[in-house]
Amino acid sequence: MNKHVRLGVNIDHVATLRNARGEKYPEIIKAAKIVENSGADLITVHVREDRRHINENDLGDILKVIQIPLNLEIAANSEMVSIAMNYKPNSICFVPEKRQEITTEGGLDVVRNYDKLKSLLETLKDTDIKVAVFIDPVKNQLIATQKLGINTVEFHTGSYANAFANQKNFEQELIKIKESTFFAKSLGLNCHAGHGLTYENVSLIASIEGIKELNIGHFIIADAVYIGLENSIIKMRNIISEAAK
Ligand code: PXP
Repeated sequence: MNKHVRLGVNIDHVATLRNARGEKYPEIIKAAKIVENSGADLITVHVREDRRHINENDLGDILKVIQIPLNLEIAANSEMVSIAMNYKPNSICFVPEKRQEITTEGGLDVVRNYDKLKSLLETLKDTDIKVAVFIDPVKNQLIATQKLGINTVEFHTGSYANAFANQKNFEQELIKIKESTFFAKSLGLNCHAGHGLTYENVSLIASIEGIKELNIGHFIIADAVYIGLENSIIKMRNIISEAAK
Protein backbone atom coordinates (compact mmCIF):
# COMPACT_ATOMS: atom_id res chain seq x y z
CA MET A 1 0.00 0.00 0.00
CA ASN A 2 2.84 2.37 0.99
CA LYS A 3 0.90 5.39 2.11
CA HIS A 4 1.81 8.05 4.62
CA VAL A 5 -0.73 8.12 7.43
CA ARG A 6 -0.40 11.46 9.22
CA LEU A 7 0.00 11.35 12.98
CA GLY A 8 -1.65 14.10 14.97
CA VAL A 9 -0.53 14.14 18.59
CA ASN A 10 -3.10 15.40 21.04
CA ILE A 11 -1.37 17.18 23.94
CA ASP A 12 -4.45 17.96 26.06
CA HIS A 13 -3.20 15.78 28.89
CA VAL A 14 0.02 17.71 29.30
CA ALA A 15 -2.31 20.53 30.39
CA THR A 16 -4.34 18.10 32.52
CA LEU A 17 -1.18 17.27 34.45
CA ARG A 18 -0.23 20.94 34.78
CA ASN A 19 -3.71 21.88 35.97
CA ALA A 20 -3.75 19.07 38.54
CA ARG A 21 -1.44 21.19 40.68
CA GLY A 22 -2.13 24.65 39.30
CA GLU A 23 1.57 25.00 38.45
CA LYS A 24 3.19 26.24 35.24
CA TYR A 25 4.68 22.84 34.45
CA PRO A 26 4.70 20.66 32.48
CA GLU A 27 4.79 23.51 29.97
CA ILE A 28 2.55 23.09 26.98
CA ILE A 29 4.98 24.92 24.68
CA LYS A 30 7.80 22.59 25.60
CA ALA A 31 5.59 19.60 24.82
CA ALA A 32 4.46 21.16 21.52
CA LYS A 33 8.07 21.64 20.41
CA ILE A 34 8.98 18.07 21.31
CA VAL A 35 5.97 16.80 19.36
CA GLU A 36 7.04 18.79 16.32
CA ASN A 37 10.66 17.65 16.57
CA SER A 38 9.67 14.01 17.01
CA GLY A 39 8.14 13.74 13.54
CA ALA A 40 4.44 14.24 14.26
CA ASP A 41 2.56 15.71 11.32
CA LEU A 42 0.29 17.93 13.37
CA ILE A 43 -0.69 18.87 16.89
CA THR A 44 -4.26 18.44 18.07
CA VAL A 45 -5.85 20.13 21.07
CA HIS A 46 -9.38 20.27 22.41
CA VAL A 47 -10.49 23.52 24.01
CA ARG A 48 -13.41 22.25 26.06
CA GLU A 49 -16.19 24.48 27.26
CA ASP A 50 -15.09 23.91 30.87
CA ARG A 51 -11.37 24.54 29.96
CA ARG A 52 -10.41 21.51 32.01
CA HIS A 53 -7.12 21.20 30.15
CA ILE A 54 -6.23 23.40 27.16
CA ASN A 55 -7.31 27.05 27.29
CA GLU A 56 -7.09 29.93 24.84
CA ASN A 57 -3.70 31.06 26.17
CA ASP A 58 -2.30 27.61 25.47
CA LEU A 59 -3.76 27.73 21.99
CA GLY A 60 -2.11 31.09 21.26
CA ASP A 61 1.20 29.94 22.76
CA ILE A 62 1.27 26.71 20.74
CA LEU A 63 0.47 28.52 17.51
CA LYS A 64 3.40 30.88 18.13
CA VAL A 65 5.99 28.11 18.45
CA ILE A 66 5.05 25.43 15.92
CA GLN A 67 5.42 25.21 12.14
CA ILE A 68 3.33 22.06 11.71
CA PRO A 69 -0.46 22.43 11.44
CA LEU A 70 -2.66 22.76 14.50
CA ASN A 71 -5.96 20.93 14.60
CA LEU A 72 -8.46 22.33 17.07
CA GLU A 73 -11.27 20.16 18.42
CA ILE A 74 -14.30 22.14 19.50
CA ALA A 75 -17.94 21.71 20.40
CA ALA A 76 -20.35 22.78 17.67
CA ASN A 77 -21.44 26.17 18.96
CA SER A 78 -20.87 29.82 18.09
CA GLU A 79 -18.64 30.61 21.10
CA MET A 80 -16.17 27.93 20.05
CA VAL A 81 -16.34 28.93 16.39
CA SER A 82 -15.46 32.51 17.43
CA ILE A 83 -12.40 31.18 19.24
CA ALA A 84 -11.41 29.28 16.10
CA MET A 85 -11.85 32.39 13.99
CA ASN A 86 -9.70 34.44 16.37
CA TYR A 87 -6.86 31.95 16.61
CA LYS A 88 -7.02 30.58 13.04
CA PRO A 89 -5.86 26.97 13.45
CA ASN A 90 -5.30 25.06 10.20
CA SER A 91 -8.28 22.88 10.87
CA ILE A 92 -11.10 22.35 13.29
CA CYS A 93 -12.94 19.19 14.15
CA PHE A 94 -16.43 19.47 15.59
CA VAL A 95 -16.88 17.05 18.46
CA PRO A 96 -19.81 16.38 20.77
CA GLU A 97 -19.32 17.63 24.29
CA LYS A 98 -21.00 16.86 27.59
CA ARG A 99 -19.66 18.50 30.73
CA GLN A 100 -19.82 15.42 32.93
CA GLU A 101 -18.06 13.06 30.53
CA ILE A 102 -14.46 12.02 31.23
CA THR A 103 -13.66 12.15 27.53
CA THR A 104 -15.51 12.40 24.20
CA GLU A 105 -17.79 9.40 24.47
CA GLY A 106 -19.31 9.09 21.03
CA GLY A 107 -19.41 10.74 17.66
CA LEU A 108 -21.21 13.98 16.86
CA ASP A 109 -24.73 13.36 15.60
CA VAL A 110 -24.49 15.26 12.32
CA VAL A 111 -28.01 14.22 11.32
CA ARG A 112 -29.58 15.74 14.45
CA ASN A 113 -27.31 18.78 14.47
CA TYR A 114 -27.63 19.42 10.75
CA ASP A 115 -29.14 22.91 10.93
CA LYS A 116 -26.82 24.05 13.70
CA LEU A 117 -23.78 22.86 11.75
CA LYS A 118 -25.08 24.52 8.60
CA SER A 119 -25.19 27.89 10.31
CA LEU A 120 -21.73 27.44 11.88
CA LEU A 121 -20.34 26.56 8.44
CA GLU A 122 -21.89 29.73 7.06
CA THR A 123 -19.93 31.71 9.70
CA LEU A 124 -16.73 29.93 8.72
CA LYS A 125 -17.18 30.11 4.97
CA ASP A 126 -14.80 33.01 4.27
CA THR A 127 -11.96 31.56 6.34
CA ASP A 128 -9.19 29.14 5.32
CA ILE A 129 -9.92 26.86 8.26
CA LYS A 130 -10.51 23.26 7.17
CA VAL A 131 -13.50 21.61 8.81
CA ALA A 132 -14.01 18.01 9.93
CA VAL A 133 -16.59 16.25 12.05
CA PHE A 134 -15.90 13.51 14.59
CA ILE A 135 -18.51 10.84 13.91
CA ASP A 136 -19.33 7.23 14.59
CA PRO A 137 -18.75 4.99 11.56
CA VAL A 138 -22.37 5.06 10.41
CA LYS A 139 -23.71 5.55 6.87
CA ASN A 140 -26.36 8.20 7.53
CA GLN A 141 -23.81 10.36 9.38
CA LEU A 142 -21.59 10.25 6.32
CA ILE A 143 -24.42 11.15 3.98
CA ALA A 144 -25.39 14.12 6.15
CA THR A 145 -21.74 15.24 6.35
CA GLN A 146 -21.39 15.23 2.60
CA LYS A 147 -24.70 17.06 2.18
CA LEU A 148 -23.39 19.81 4.46
CA GLY A 149 -20.38 20.27 2.18
CA ILE A 150 -17.91 19.12 4.85
CA ASN A 151 -15.19 17.07 3.15
CA THR A 152 -13.44 15.37 6.08
CA VAL A 153 -14.59 12.99 8.80
CA GLU A 154 -12.76 11.60 11.78
CA PHE A 155 -14.11 8.22 12.81
CA HIS A 156 -14.50 7.66 16.54
CA THR A 157 -12.49 4.53 17.25
CA GLY A 158 -13.49 4.33 20.93
CA SER A 159 -15.85 1.35 20.56
CA TYR A 160 -13.20 -0.51 18.57
CA ALA A 161 -10.53 0.31 21.19
CA ASN A 162 -12.74 -0.84 24.06
CA ALA A 163 -13.66 -4.05 22.27
CA PHE A 164 -9.99 -4.64 21.45
CA ALA A 165 -8.99 -4.18 25.09
CA ASN A 166 -11.59 -6.79 26.10
CA GLN A 167 -10.74 -8.96 23.09
CA LYS A 168 -14.46 -9.20 22.43
CA ASN A 169 -16.13 -8.57 19.07
CA PHE A 170 -13.52 -6.03 18.02
CA GLU A 171 -13.56 -7.50 14.51
CA GLN A 172 -17.14 -6.27 14.15
CA GLU A 173 -16.13 -2.77 15.23
CA LEU A 174 -13.22 -2.88 12.81
CA ILE A 175 -15.50 -3.91 9.95
CA LYS A 176 -17.77 -0.93 10.69
CA ILE A 177 -14.79 1.41 10.37
CA LYS A 178 -13.53 -0.32 7.21
CA GLU A 179 -16.93 -0.27 5.52
CA SER A 180 -17.53 3.31 6.53
CA THR A 181 -14.15 4.35 5.14
CA PHE A 182 -14.98 2.64 1.86
CA PHE A 183 -18.37 4.34 1.74
CA ALA A 184 -16.93 7.73 2.75
CA LYS A 185 -14.41 7.49 -0.07
CA SER A 186 -17.21 6.80 -2.53
CA LEU A 187 -18.79 10.08 -1.32
CA GLY A 188 -15.47 11.88 -1.85
CA LEU A 189 -14.78 12.36 1.86
CA ASN A 190 -11.33 12.30 3.51
CA CYS A 191 -11.12 9.89 6.43
CA HIS A 192 -9.29 10.37 9.72
CA ALA A 193 -9.65 8.30 12.88
CA GLY A 194 -8.90 8.51 16.55
CA HIS A 195 -9.74 7.85 20.17
CA GLY A 196 -8.37 5.19 22.45
CA LEU A 197 -5.60 4.15 20.05
CA THR A 198 -2.54 2.41 21.51
CA TYR A 199 0.60 0.66 20.24
CA GLU A 200 -1.39 -2.59 20.25
CA ASN A 201 -4.60 -1.58 18.54
CA VAL A 202 -3.40 1.11 16.10
CA SER A 203 -2.07 -1.14 13.31
CA LEU A 204 -5.45 -2.51 12.26
CA ILE A 205 -6.76 1.04 11.87
CA ALA A 206 -3.62 2.46 10.23
CA SER A 207 -3.71 -0.29 7.62
CA ILE A 208 -7.22 0.54 6.43
CA GLU A 209 -7.04 1.79 2.87
CA GLY A 210 -8.30 5.36 2.86
CA ILE A 211 -7.44 6.37 6.43
CA LYS A 212 -5.19 9.40 6.04
CA GLU A 213 -4.72 10.69 9.57
CA LEU A 214 -4.79 9.40 13.14
CA ASN A 215 -5.18 11.63 16.18
CA ILE A 216 -3.75 10.07 19.31
CA GLY A 217 -3.41 11.61 22.75
CA HIS A 218 -3.94 9.84 26.03
CA PHE A 219 -1.85 6.75 25.32
CA ILE A 220 1.12 8.68 23.90
CA ILE A 221 1.20 11.04 26.89
CA ALA A 222 0.74 8.12 29.30
CA ASP A 223 3.61 6.14 27.78
CA ALA A 224 5.76 9.28 27.84
CA VAL A 225 5.75 8.93 31.63
CA TYR A 226 7.86 5.79 31.17
CA ILE A 227 9.87 6.40 28.04
CA GLY A 228 9.69 10.14 27.33
CA LEU A 229 7.49 12.05 24.90
CA GLU A 230 9.90 11.93 22.00
CA ASN A 231 10.22 8.15 22.29
CA SER A 232 6.50 7.48 22.63
CA ILE A 233 5.81 9.54 19.50
CA ILE A 234 8.60 7.87 17.51
CA LYS A 235 7.39 4.44 18.60
CA MET A 236 3.80 5.20 17.59
CA ARG A 237 4.99 6.75 14.31
CA ASN A 238 6.98 3.60 13.48
CA ILE A 239 4.10 1.25 14.25
CA ILE A 240 1.75 3.31 12.07
CA SER A 241 4.25 3.48 9.18
CA GLU A 242 4.89 -0.25 9.38
CA ALA A 243 1.15 -1.02 9.31
CA ALA A 244 0.53 1.32 6.39
CA LYS A 245 3.27 -0.19 4.21
N1 PXP B 1 -9.80 12.61 18.19
C1 PXP B 1 -10.79 13.31 18.79
C2 PXP B 1 -11.78 14.00 17.94
C3 PXP B 1 -10.86 13.39 20.20
O1 PXP B 1 -11.86 14.08 20.78
C4 PXP B 1 -9.85 12.75 20.96
C5 PXP B 1 -9.87 12.89 22.45
O2 PXP B 1 -9.75 14.23 22.80
C6 PXP B 1 -8.84 12.07 20.28
C7 PXP B 1 -8.85 11.99 18.89
C8 PXP B 1 -7.71 11.42 21.01
O3 PXP B 1 -8.19 10.38 21.81
P1 PXP B 1 -7.19 9.69 22.84
O4 PXP B 1 -6.78 10.74 23.81
O5 PXP B 1 -8.03 8.61 23.44
O6 PXP B 1 -6.02 9.18 22.04
